[in-house]
Amino acid sequence: MRCVKFQQWTNRNVVNASVDVRRLTTPQDLFQAAAEEVIGAATDAVAQRGRFTIALSGGSTPKNLYTLIAATASATLPWDQMFFFWGDERHVPLDDPESNYRMAKEALLSKVPIPPANIFPVPAENPDAAAAAQAYEQTLRKFFAPGPGEFPCFDLILLGIGADGHTASLFPETAALQEKSRLVVANWVEKLKTSRITFTLPLLNAARCVAFLVSGTDKAAVLHEVLEGNAPAEKYPSKLVRPSQGKLIWFVDRAAASELSTAA
Ligand code: 6PG
Repeated sequence: MRCVKFQQWTNRNVVNASVDVRRLTTPQDLFQAAAEEVIGAATDAVAQRGRFTIALSGGSTPKNLYTLIAATASATLPWDQMFFFWGDERHVPLDDPESNYRMAKEALLSKVPIPPANIFPVPAENPDAAAAAQAYEQTLRKFFAPGPGEFPCFDLILLGIGADGHTASLFPETAALQEKSRLVVANWVEKLKTSRITFTLPLLNAARCVAFLVSGTDKAAVLHEVLEGNAPAEKYPSKLVRPSQGKLIWFVDRAAASELSTAA
């Protein structure tokens, strides 16, 4: 496990931030380590602040993490003081096979004693993606009650990375990357011919902790670029995730880390 200081992003006003790259051997080791991080963060947050707020990621990678937490921590975590949100969502109804909410509900939330009122899905069934994003932003503002110009501070935000370097639904060279004040926006993704509803960079970078989960050889090239490459950040939006005050952790397995130059 190593901490790495980054310099490349000073031109984007990103402060130097220590980045914690945790290399695990197998995908199962990765999910075990990430589960311990989630459980530890939840326990600490509830002990210190009385509640734990987490934004889940979608896609396929985190499903095994959610399944593991449901199997190992159902009886031990303070579920009634834990609050679940989504960092992004596909513009589909919540029961759609593509829905990030549905995936997390089936793998985790339907298997643990969490009050339904503690679960905040994106209202993605709304045919108007911009209206869905606006409504979700209002939900966050009501829940966190940030002051003027402030951004809600999640205890933990989970993220994945696409082979093109996107994270949440912040895709390369899309409009949402320029957002400076909104919390949640609808982001048109030309190559997918659809809008996605996504947290913005300022909201991601206001978190106490952001954790990326990266597994498999198909992510090796992009992981190398994001952690060690020099391509412009707009082309690899994951590079723009730099919590200004918080921790940044990369959970990577050996296959995903296979192109990283630094020794383990
Ligand atoms: C989504 C995600 C997205 C995901 C990456 C990686 O809605 O798809 O939030 O950002 O994390 O696309 O997806 P995989 O884990 O399936 O490779």
